Amino acid sequence: MSGLSPECFDIGILNDGRTIPDFIDDKINELSLKDSEEPFIVASLDSLYMKHLKWVTKLPRVKPFYAVKCNSTPPVLKMLRALGMGFDCASKGEIKLALSIGMNPDKMIYAHTIKPPSHIRYACTHGVNMMTFDNEDELQKISLNHAKAKLVLRIAVDDSKSGRRLNLKFGARLETVDKLLERAKELSLEVIGVSFHVGSMCFDSLAFKQAIADARHAFDIANLMGFQLSVLDIGGGYCGRDDSNKFDEFSEVINAALEEYFPPDSGVKVIAEPGQYYVESSFTLVMSVVGKKTITDDVDEQDDVENKCNKRMMYYMNDGVYGSLRACLYPNFKFEPHLKRVNISPFVHSNMQQL
Ligand SMILES: Cc1ncc(COP(=O)(O)O)c(C=O)c1O
Repeated sequence: MSGLSPECFDIGILNDGRTIPDFIDDKINELSLKDSEEPFIVASLDSLYMKHLKWVTKLPRVKPFYAVKCNSTPPVLKMLRALGMGFDCASKGEIKLALSIGMNPDKMIYAHTIKPPSHIRYACTHGVNMMTFDNEDELQKISLNHAKAKLVLRIAVDDSKSGRRLNLKFGARLETVDKLLERAKELSLEVIGVSFHVGSMCFDSLAFKQAIADARHAFDIANLMGFQLSVLDIGGGYCGRDDSNKFDEFSEVINAALEEYFPPDSGVKVIAEPGQYYVESSFTLVMSVVGKKTITDDVDEQDDVENKCNKRMMYYMNDGVYGSLRACLYPNFKFEPHLKRVNISPFVHSNMQQL
Protein backbone atom coordinates (compact mmCIF):
# COMPACT_ATOMS: atom_id res chain seq x y z
CA MET A 1 0.00 0.00 0.00
CA SER A 2 1.32 3.43 -0.70
CA GLY A 3 0.59 6.61 1.16
CA LEU A 4 -0.49 4.41 4.12
CA SER A 5 -4.06 4.72 2.98
CA PRO A 6 -6.14 1.53 2.99
CA GLU A 7 -7.89 2.72 -0.20
CA CYS A 8 -4.61 3.03 -2.06
CA PHE A 9 -3.06 -0.36 -2.77
CA ASP A 10 -1.71 -2.66 -5.46
CA ILE A 11 -1.82 -6.42 -5.41
CA GLY A 12 0.90 -8.50 -7.04
CA ILE A 13 2.17 -12.05 -7.20
CA LEU A 14 5.77 -12.78 -6.28
CA ASN A 15 7.22 -15.01 -8.99
CA ASP A 16 10.58 -16.76 -9.41
CA GLY A 17 11.24 -17.25 -5.73
CA ARG A 18 11.06 -13.57 -4.88
CA THR A 19 10.25 -12.92 -1.26
CA ILE A 20 8.64 -10.06 0.62
CA PRO A 21 12.09 -8.63 1.61
CA ASP A 22 13.09 -8.71 -2.11
CA PHE A 23 9.90 -6.87 -2.97
CA ILE A 24 10.59 -4.28 -0.26
CA ASP A 25 14.11 -3.68 -1.63
CA ASP A 26 12.74 -3.15 -5.14
CA LYS A 27 10.07 -0.79 -3.87
CA ILE A 28 12.62 1.25 -1.94
CA ASN A 29 14.75 1.56 -5.09
CA GLU A 30 11.70 2.48 -7.17
CA LEU A 31 10.75 5.23 -4.70
CA SER A 32 14.33 6.48 -4.50
CA LEU A 33 14.40 6.89 -8.27
CA LYS A 34 11.29 9.05 -7.92
CA ASP A 35 13.07 11.11 -5.27
CA SER A 36 10.70 9.86 -2.58
CA GLU A 37 11.21 8.27 0.82
CA GLU A 38 7.51 8.05 1.70
CA PRO A 39 6.62 5.20 4.09
CA PHE A 40 4.64 2.24 2.76
CA ILE A 41 3.16 -1.00 4.03
CA VAL A 42 3.52 -4.44 2.51
CA ALA A 43 1.05 -7.17 3.38
CA SER A 44 1.46 -10.86 2.74
CA LEU A 45 -1.88 -12.40 1.80
CA ASP A 46 -0.17 -15.80 1.94
CA SER A 47 0.41 -15.24 5.59
CA LEU A 48 -3.35 -14.75 6.14
CA TYR A 49 -3.93 -18.07 4.46
CA MET A 50 -1.30 -19.79 6.61
CA LYS A 51 -2.84 -18.27 9.73
CA HIS A 52 -6.24 -19.58 8.76
CA LEU A 53 -4.85 -23.03 8.05
CA LYS A 54 -3.35 -23.04 11.52
CA TRP A 55 -6.61 -21.87 13.06
CA VAL A 56 -8.76 -24.59 11.46
CA THR A 57 -6.17 -27.23 12.34
CA LYS A 58 -5.72 -26.20 15.95
CA LEU A 59 -9.25 -25.05 16.79
CA PRO A 60 -11.46 -27.20 14.55
CA ARG A 61 -14.60 -26.59 16.60
CA VAL A 62 -14.27 -22.79 16.65
CA LYS A 63 -15.52 -20.81 13.66
CA PRO A 64 -13.62 -17.52 13.37
CA PHE A 65 -15.46 -14.23 12.80
CA TYR A 66 -12.59 -11.89 11.93
CA ALA A 67 -12.70 -8.58 13.90
CA VAL A 68 -12.85 -6.07 11.04
CA LYS A 69 -11.72 -3.19 13.30
CA CYS A 70 -8.30 -4.75 13.52
CA ASN A 71 -7.46 -4.17 9.86
CA SER A 72 -10.17 -3.32 7.36
CA THR A 73 -8.02 -3.14 4.22
CA PRO A 74 -10.19 -4.49 1.36
CA PRO A 75 -7.68 -7.16 0.17
CA VAL A 76 -7.48 -8.53 3.73
CA LEU A 77 -11.26 -8.65 4.04
CA LYS A 78 -11.65 -10.22 0.59
CA MET A 79 -9.03 -12.87 1.33
CA LEU A 80 -10.60 -13.76 4.67
CA ARG A 81 -14.07 -13.85 3.16
CA ALA A 82 -12.79 -16.16 0.42
CA LEU A 83 -11.43 -18.44 3.13
CA GLY A 84 -14.98 -18.79 4.43
CA MET A 85 -14.71 -16.78 7.61
CA GLY A 86 -17.43 -14.76 9.28
CA PHE A 87 -16.89 -11.12 10.29
CA ASP A 88 -17.23 -9.33 13.61
CA CYS A 89 -18.32 -5.76 12.83
CA ALA A 90 -18.39 -3.04 15.46
CA SER A 91 -20.25 -0.26 13.61
CA LYS A 92 -22.44 0.64 10.68
CA GLY A 93 -19.30 1.59 8.72
CA GLU A 94 -17.79 -1.85 9.19
CA ILE A 95 -21.05 -3.59 8.28
CA LYS A 96 -21.26 -1.44 5.14
CA LEU A 97 -17.68 -2.32 4.22
CA ALA A 98 -18.27 -6.03 4.79
CA LEU A 99 -21.43 -5.95 2.67
CA SER A 100 -19.59 -4.04 -0.08
CA ILE A 101 -17.16 -6.93 -0.54
CA GLY A 102 -20.03 -9.41 -0.73
CA MET A 103 -20.07 -10.77 2.81
CA ASN A 104 -23.26 -12.61 3.66
CA PRO A 105 -25.06 -10.84 6.56
CA ASP A 106 -25.77 -14.24 8.10
CA LYS A 107 -22.02 -14.59 8.62
CA MET A 108 -21.68 -11.35 10.57
CA ILE A 109 -21.98 -10.50 14.23
CA TYR A 110 -22.48 -6.89 15.27
CA ALA A 111 -20.16 -7.25 18.25
CA HIS A 112 -20.41 -3.94 20.03
CA THR A 113 -22.46 -3.90 23.20
CA ILE A 114 -23.27 -0.19 22.92
CA LYS A 115 -24.71 0.72 19.52
CA PRO A 116 -26.20 3.94 18.13
CA PRO A 117 -29.90 3.43 17.23
CA SER A 118 -29.31 4.31 13.57
CA HIS A 119 -26.57 1.67 13.35
CA ILE A 120 -28.92 -0.93 14.82
CA ARG A 121 -31.55 0.04 12.23
CA TYR A 122 -28.92 -0.25 9.48
CA ALA A 123 -28.05 -3.76 10.67
CA CYS A 124 -31.76 -4.60 10.74
CA THR A 125 -32.50 -3.43 7.20
CA HIS A 126 -29.41 -5.21 5.85
CA GLY A 127 -30.13 -8.56 7.48
CA VAL A 128 -27.42 -8.49 10.15
CA ASN A 129 -29.28 -10.11 13.02
CA MET A 130 -26.69 -11.45 15.44
CA MET A 131 -25.55 -8.76 17.90
CA THR A 132 -24.18 -8.47 21.41
CA PHE A 133 -25.50 -6.65 24.49
CA ASP A 134 -24.47 -6.27 28.12
CA ASN A 135 -27.01 -3.89 29.68
CA GLU A 136 -30.73 -3.15 29.97
CA ASP A 137 -30.65 0.12 28.04
CA GLU A 138 -29.21 -1.67 25.06
CA LEU A 139 -31.98 -4.26 25.23
CA GLN A 140 -34.53 -1.46 25.16
CA LYS A 141 -32.77 0.14 22.19
CA ILE A 142 -32.62 -3.16 20.30
CA SER A 143 -36.29 -3.93 20.95
CA LEU A 144 -37.23 -0.58 19.42
CA ASN A 145 -34.91 -0.83 16.41
CA HIS A 146 -34.40 -4.53 15.64
CA ALA A 147 -36.97 -6.60 17.48
CA LYS A 148 -36.03 -9.77 15.58
CA ALA A 149 -32.33 -9.59 16.46
CA LYS A 150 -30.55 -12.72 17.70
CA LEU A 151 -28.83 -11.61 20.86
CA VAL A 152 -25.58 -12.71 22.42
CA LEU A 153 -25.03 -11.69 26.03
CA ARG A 154 -21.47 -10.52 26.59
CA ILE A 155 -20.23 -11.33 30.07
CA ALA A 156 -17.31 -9.65 31.81
CA VAL A 157 -14.39 -11.99 32.47
CA ASP A 158 -10.99 -11.70 34.12
CA ASP A 159 -8.79 -9.76 31.70
CA SER A 160 -5.89 -9.14 34.08
CA LYS A 161 -3.68 -11.46 31.98
CA SER A 162 -3.96 -9.27 28.90
CA GLY A 163 -2.02 -6.39 27.43
CA ARG A 164 -5.17 -4.44 26.61
CA ARG A 165 -8.00 -4.86 29.06
CA LEU A 166 -11.57 -4.49 27.82
CA ASN A 167 -13.78 -5.70 30.63
CA LEU A 168 -14.03 -2.50 32.58
CA LYS A 169 -15.95 -1.04 29.65
CA PHE A 170 -17.67 -4.10 28.24
CA GLY A 171 -19.42 -7.18 29.57
CA ALA A 172 -22.11 -7.86 32.18
CA ARG A 173 -21.09 -9.25 35.57
CA LEU A 174 -22.28 -12.82 36.19
CA GLU A 175 -24.49 -11.64 39.08
CA THR A 176 -26.51 -9.53 36.64
CA VAL A 177 -27.10 -12.26 34.04
CA ASP A 178 -30.51 -13.35 35.39
CA LYS A 179 -31.80 -9.78 35.57
CA LEU A 180 -30.71 -9.06 32.00
CA LEU A 181 -32.26 -12.26 30.70
CA GLU A 182 -35.47 -11.45 32.57
CA ARG A 183 -35.59 -8.06 30.85
CA ALA A 184 -34.95 -9.68 27.44
CA LYS A 185 -37.90 -11.98 28.14
CA GLU A 186 -40.17 -9.06 29.07
CA LEU A 187 -39.24 -7.38 25.77
CA SER A 188 -39.80 -10.64 23.84
CA LEU A 189 -36.24 -10.59 22.54
CA GLU A 190 -34.46 -13.74 21.42
CA VAL A 191 -31.21 -14.49 23.25
CA ILE A 192 -29.17 -17.16 21.46
CA GLY A 193 -25.83 -17.19 23.23
CA VAL A 194 -23.05 -15.86 25.43
CA SER A 195 -19.79 -14.11 24.50
CA PHE A 196 -16.68 -12.81 26.24
CA HIS A 197 -13.34 -11.23 25.43
CA VAL A 198 -10.35 -11.99 27.67
CA GLY A 199 -8.64 -8.77 26.50
CA SER A 200 -6.24 -8.26 23.62
CA MET A 201 -2.69 -9.58 23.73
CA CYS A 202 -3.62 -12.21 26.30
CA PHE A 203 -0.53 -13.85 27.75
CA ASP A 204 -2.05 -16.55 29.95
CA SER A 205 -4.05 -19.34 28.32
CA LEU A 206 -5.76 -20.12 31.64
CA ALA A 207 -7.73 -16.87 31.21
CA PHE A 208 -9.65 -18.69 28.46
CA LYS A 209 -10.26 -21.71 30.66
CA GLN A 210 -11.80 -19.54 33.39
CA ALA A 211 -13.81 -17.47 30.89
CA ILE A 212 -15.24 -20.62 29.27
CA ALA A 213 -16.21 -21.88 32.75
CA ASP A 214 -17.89 -18.49 33.43
CA ALA A 215 -19.76 -18.75 30.14
CA ARG A 216 -20.96 -22.22 31.20
CA HIS A 217 -22.31 -20.66 34.37
CA ALA A 218 -24.21 -18.06 32.32
CA PHE A 219 -25.59 -20.85 30.09
CA ASP A 220 -26.78 -22.73 33.17
CA ILE A 221 -28.58 -19.65 34.52
CA ALA A 222 -30.22 -19.16 31.12
CA ASN A 223 -31.25 -22.82 30.88
CA LEU A 224 -32.90 -22.64 34.31
CA MET A 225 -34.85 -19.59 33.10
CA GLY A 226 -36.12 -21.50 30.06
CA PHE A 227 -33.75 -20.07 27.43
CA GLN A 228 -32.25 -22.45 24.87
CA LEU A 229 -28.85 -20.98 24.10
CA SER A 230 -26.95 -22.40 21.16
CA VAL A 231 -23.94 -20.08 20.56
CA LEU A 232 -20.76 -19.56 22.55
CA ASP A 233 -18.54 -16.73 21.30
CA ILE A 234 -15.04 -16.90 22.80
CA GLY A 235 -13.98 -13.46 21.50
CA GLY A 236 -10.44 -12.36 20.60
CA GLY A 237 -7.11 -12.02 22.38
CA TYR A 238 -4.98 -14.58 20.48
CA CYS A 239 -1.34 -13.90 19.77
CA GLY A 240 -0.57 -13.34 16.09
CA ARG A 241 3.20 -13.49 16.09
CA ASP A 242 4.74 -16.03 13.77
CA ASP A 243 7.71 -16.64 16.04
CA SER A 244 5.59 -17.57 19.02
CA ASN A 245 4.10 -20.96 19.89
CA LYS A 246 1.53 -19.28 22.14
CA PHE A 247 -1.32 -20.07 19.80
CA ASP A 248 -0.53 -23.81 20.02
CA GLU A 249 -0.57 -23.61 23.79
CA PHE A 250 -3.77 -21.51 23.85
CA SER A 251 -5.61 -23.81 21.49
CA GLU A 252 -4.83 -26.84 23.67
CA VAL A 253 -6.27 -25.10 26.73
CA ILE A 254 -9.31 -23.85 24.80
CA ASN A 255 -10.05 -27.28 23.29
CA ALA A 256 -9.80 -28.95 26.69
CA ALA A 257 -12.08 -26.34 28.30
CA LEU A 258 -14.63 -26.67 25.50
CA GLU A 259 -14.56 -30.44 25.90
CA GLU A 260 -15.19 -30.05 29.64
CA TYR A 261 -17.84 -27.31 29.62
CA PHE A 262 -19.36 -27.45 26.12
CA PRO A 263 -18.75 -30.97 24.74
CA PRO A 264 -19.76 -31.53 21.11
CA ASP A 265 -22.97 -33.33 22.15
CA SER A 266 -24.12 -30.12 23.91
CA GLY A 267 -25.02 -28.90 20.41
CA VAL A 268 -23.49 -25.50 21.13
CA LYS A 269 -21.92 -23.78 18.13
CA VAL A 270 -18.61 -22.14 19.08
CA ILE A 271 -17.42 -18.99 17.34
CA ALA A 272 -14.59 -16.50 18.04
CA GLU A 273 -13.62 -12.94 17.08
CA PRO A 274 -9.88 -13.04 16.35
CA GLY A 275 -8.35 -9.78 15.13
CA GLN A 276 -4.62 -9.44 15.71
CA TYR A 277 -4.12 -13.19 15.32
CA TYR A 278 -4.76 -12.92 11.58
CA VAL A 279 -3.05 -9.65 10.70
CA GLU A 280 -0.33 -8.94 13.26
CA SER A 281 2.52 -10.58 11.40
CA SER A 282 1.11 -10.23 7.89
CA PHE A 283 2.04 -6.57 7.60
CA THR A 284 5.43 -4.90 7.31
CA LEU A 285 5.72 -1.15 7.66
CA VAL A 286 8.64 0.38 5.80
CA MET A 287 9.61 3.90 6.80
CA SER A 288 12.74 5.92 6.40
CA VAL A 289 14.99 7.56 8.93
CA VAL A 290 14.77 11.21 8.02
CA GLY A 291 17.04 12.54 10.73
CA LYS A 292 19.24 11.55 13.64
CA LYS A 293 20.63 13.24 16.67
CA THR A 294 23.07 12.24 19.42
CA ILE A 295 21.59 12.69 22.86
CA THR A 296 23.31 12.52 26.21
CA ASP A 297 21.50 10.86 29.09
CA ASP A 298 21.50 12.59 32.47
CA VAL A 299 23.66 10.45 34.74
CA ASP A 300 25.13 11.25 38.12
CA GLU A 301 28.87 11.61 38.40
CA GLN A 302 29.44 8.15 39.89
CA ASP A 303 27.56 6.50 37.02
CA ASP A 304 29.54 8.56 34.60
CA VAL A 305 32.76 7.17 35.95
CA GLU A 306 31.52 3.58 35.81
CA ASN A 307 29.77 3.88 32.49
CA LYS A 308 31.39 6.41 30.21
CA CYS A 309 29.01 5.61 27.37
CA ASN A 310 25.98 7.76 28.19
CA LYS A 311 25.40 8.93 24.64
CA ARG A 312 22.64 7.50 22.49
CA MET A 313 21.47 8.05 18.97
CA MET A 314 17.92 9.29 18.43
CA TYR A 315 16.40 8.40 15.05
CA TYR A 316 13.51 10.35 13.56
CA MET A 317 11.24 8.42 11.21
CA ASN A 318 8.60 9.56 8.75
CA ASP A 319 5.71 7.70 10.37
CA GLY A 320 4.68 7.64 14.00
CA VAL A 321 2.06 7.25 16.69
CA TYR A 322 -0.36 9.58 14.91
CA GLY A 323 -0.09 7.29 11.89
CA SER A 324 0.74 3.62 11.52
CA LEU A 325 2.36 3.25 14.94
CA ARG A 326 -0.77 3.97 16.99
CA ALA A 327 -0.46 0.58 18.66
CA CYS A 328 2.83 1.69 20.25
CA LEU A 329 0.74 3.77 22.64
CA TYR A 330 -0.50 0.58 24.32
CA PRO A 331 1.65 -0.20 27.35
CA ASN A 332 2.55 -3.79 26.38
CA PHE A 333 3.26 -3.16 22.74
CA LYS A 334 6.85 -3.69 21.78
CA PHE A 335 8.11 -2.24 18.55
CA GLU A 336 10.97 -4.27 17.07
CA PRO A 337 12.45 -2.45 14.10
CA HIS A 338 14.83 -4.07 11.64
CA LEU A 339 17.32 -1.49 10.42
CA LYS A 340 18.56 -1.58 6.87
CA ARG A 341 20.92 0.81 5.13
CA VAL A 342 20.20 1.53 1.47
CA ASN A 343 21.90 3.69 -1.17
CA ILE A 344 20.16 6.96 -0.67
CA SER A 345 18.38 7.06 2.61
CA PRO A 346 18.52 4.69 5.57
CA PHE A 347 15.22 2.84 5.87
CA VAL A 348 13.72 1.14 8.85
CA HIS A 349 11.74 -2.08 8.32
CA SER A 350 9.36 -2.90 11.02
CA ASN A 351 7.34 -5.99 11.60
CA MET A 352 4.90 -4.52 14.08
CA GLN A 353 5.20 -6.99 16.87
CA GLN A 354 4.58 -7.06 20.55
CA LEU A 355 5.68 -9.03 23.52
C1 LIG B 1 -15.52 -7.06 20.61
C2 LIG B 1 -14.14 -7.36 20.10
N1 LIG B 1 -13.95 -8.50 19.43
C3 LIG B 1 -12.73 -8.81 18.93
C4 LIG B 1 -11.65 -7.96 19.07
C5 LIG B 1 -10.31 -8.37 18.49
O1 LIG B 1 -9.45 -8.69 19.50
P1 LIG B 1 -7.97 -9.24 19.25
O2 LIG B 1 -7.36 -8.39 18.22
O3 LIG B 1 -7.33 -9.16 20.57
O4 LIG B 1 -8.12 -10.66 18.78
C6 LIG B 1 -11.79 -6.77 19.79
C7 LIG B 1 -10.66 -5.86 19.98
O5 LIG B 1 -10.74 -4.79 20.54
C8 LIG B 1 -13.08 -6.46 20.33
O6 LIG B 1 -13.28 -5.31 21.02
